[in-house]
Amino acid sequence: MIRRALPSDIPEVVEIENCSFKVPWPDFLFKSHLSNPGFLVYKQDHILGYAIVGSSDDKRKAHLQSIAVRTEYRRKGIASKLLEWSIDLVKLYGFHKMVLEVRELNMNARIFYLRNGFEVEGMVEDYYLDDNAILMGRNI
Ligand SMILES: CC(C)(COP(=O)(O)OP(=O)(O)OC[C@H]1O[C@@H](n2cnc3c(N)ncnc32)[C@H](O)[C@@H]1OP(=O)(O)O)[C@@H](O)C(=O)NCCC(=O)NCCS
Repeated sequence: MIRRALPSDIPEVVEIENCSFKVPWPDFLFKSHLSNPGFLVYKQDHILGYAIVGSSDDKRKAHLQSIAVRTEYRRKGIASKLLEWSIDLVKLYGFHKMVLEVRELNMNARIFYLRNGFEVEGMVEDYYLDDNAILMGRNI
């Protein structure tokens, strides 16, 4: 099931985070998102994935801040479902577009987003300390 994240989910979310990213978010950052209704988890017996969506700096677009799935549960449609829920949620808040940044070197995620209807809208050199960012967007 997909539901809003609870404080008790944080240790498992951090576990997924640590296996998913070279520069993982620390637990206090996830804790700071607990007040955000766009912090979603996919739970069976355990937390298998999470997504965080908020608004862009100018508040005009929804912004997918992070999404990750436990390594051994990938390619089962879990991230697609989390994304679908995130999109349905932000539509309720009146957003008509979702944007995100993805590392240029993260080909798996770039393919995932393309398969889920996002298009490349730009690139920011050295957005990350060690990589460029590809900017993607999707009308929702
Ligand atoms: C990117 C990520 C979230 C995808 O999660 P997932 O649950 O495996 O994705 P889905 O099963 O919903 O994939 C949907 C489609 O996206 C594409 N896709 C997903 N992962 C892919 C991969 N590693 N290689 C190629 N295509 C991929 C496929 O077309 C897939 O459909 P298929 O399995 O029927 O071929 C997951 O690989 C992950 O957690 N990566 C590490 C964290 C990360 O990079 N997050 C994105 C940060 S911007």
